[in-house]
Parts: sequence; structure tokens; C-alpha cells
Amino acid sequence: MKVAIVQNRPEFGNVQDNLNRIEEMLAGKAAELFVLPELFATGYRFKNMDEAHRFAEPVSGGKTTHFLISLAKKNKAHFIAGLVEIEGDQVYNSSVIVGPKGLIGRYRKIHLFDTEKSCFHAGKDVPPVFDLDGVKVGVMICFDWRFPETARSLALKGAEIIAHPSNLVLPHCPQAMITRCLENRIFAITADRVGEEERIPGEKLNFIGQSQVVDPDGNILVRASEKEEEVHIVDIDLKKARDKYLNSQNEIFKDRRTDLYL
Ligand code: ACM
Repeated sequence: MKVAIVQNRPEFGNVQDNLNRIEEMLAGKAAELFVLPELFATGYRFKNMDEAHRFAEPVSGGKTTHFLISLAKKNKAHFIAGLVEIEGDQVYNSSVIVGPKGLIGRYRKIHLFDTEKSCFHAGKDVPPVFDLDGVKVGVMICFDWRFPETARSLALKGAEIIAHPSNLVLPHCPQAMITRCLENRIFAITADRVGEEERIPGEKLNFIGQSQVVDPDGNILVRASEKEEEVHIVDIDLKKARDKYLNSQNEIFKDRRTDLYL
């Protein structure tokens, strides 16, 4: 199976330009699954919930979902990407999952990072696993990496791949995801962005890039740069994620001692 990471440099608030740029970056690229960053079309650092509200869209029928479905049709692929979602009066940092036939699902980030707590409502639903043409894909968003329970629960629910739209500002995630993959014998596709935002004077954020695909043995199959917009496509062998044996004696899920820990 071919999977793609898309690492972009969105300009805050220029949604149409950011979408156009993604379309340009993906022209002629072929893969079965494309993962794009968290909040890939809006930028990251909203000043407050009112501002996030102004950029928010319903997942079903919204502009960004519509754009992703058109890419999915054109590229005959599934896409997983982050956007600001509104439902009722609640604003979420969400990811949508779409395919050539349309919208498949969404995930609302459950672990909000730092100032996100004053811009979004936290998701209340269990992180989901989707069956995409026979491949089990779990979804988490950025800071969810810091809570190993997120990846573990996705893996226990059968995820073979974790799609991980991100806007990383802390340095540790790319290395930590190697451990998440080893712990669960899964693939992880982290799609991050590059660039800087200083929406509030003196509070500059630098996004660290390094989007990557890691395999169940902890090998980094590809890692993007820290500064450039890039698209990378790699072949993954799903059989690796379907075999939870480390050797003839250790099956990593069966060996868990849930009688001794949570
Ligand atoms: C983050 O969760 N975007 C740092």
C-alpha cells in the first residue's frame, strides 16, 4: 500500500490560497492514503474562540471537506486532514476522513494543547478506527501523542495505521512516535507543517516539520525536513502490523498484564 505525507506551510487565515497550494503540491501524486496536517487550511494559532468560530465549518458540506473530497475523487485515494469544525455552538479541532465516494467520518481532538484550551472545545468521543477498503486506520491529532493511551486504544481496536495530522511545536514527537509504533506494532503517519506564526506579539510559534512514516519495528521509512514544504510517498507492508508476535513466545497484546495495571 502506498501512503503519503503532505507537509505544507499555511499562511494564517488565507484559506483559499492554502487550499490552492495543496492542490499544486499534489498534482500528479499517486497514493492510496494521503495524510495532511492539523488545521492545514487555516493555520494554527487562533487568538480566541470567537476567532476560531469565524473560521469554523461544518464537517458535512463544509468548504474544506468539499475540497478534500474533490482531491479524493481526482487522486482515487483516501484523505485525512485537520480543520476547525463547528457543530451547534461548539468549535472543535477536528480531522476528517474522506474518500472518492465522499465523507467517511471525523475525529475531534481530545487532548487540547496549551492555548487551544481557550479556542476549542475538547472532543468527547473515543478516537475512531475506520475500515478504508480493508485497511484499519485510526486517527489521532498532534498532542494526542503525549498520551500513550490514545495510540494504544486505537491499536487495541484494530488500527494497523495511525493517521496523525499535526502542528508540532515541541521537539519530542517524531522520536516518541517510534515508541508508539513499537509498543503497538503499528504504522504511524505523522503529517506536520512548517513555518512560523506570531499572531500575538512576543508569542512566536515555530512548527518543526519532520513529518514521517514509521513502521511497526520502529524504522523511520521517511522523514521530511524541518523547514520545507514536501510530499513523500512510501510503500508499506501491512502484514507487519497484522502480526503482533515479536518472537514465538511474545504476542504483545496477549502478554499485557491487565490484571496488574490499568
Ligand atoms: C499541538 O497539539 N498542535 C501542539
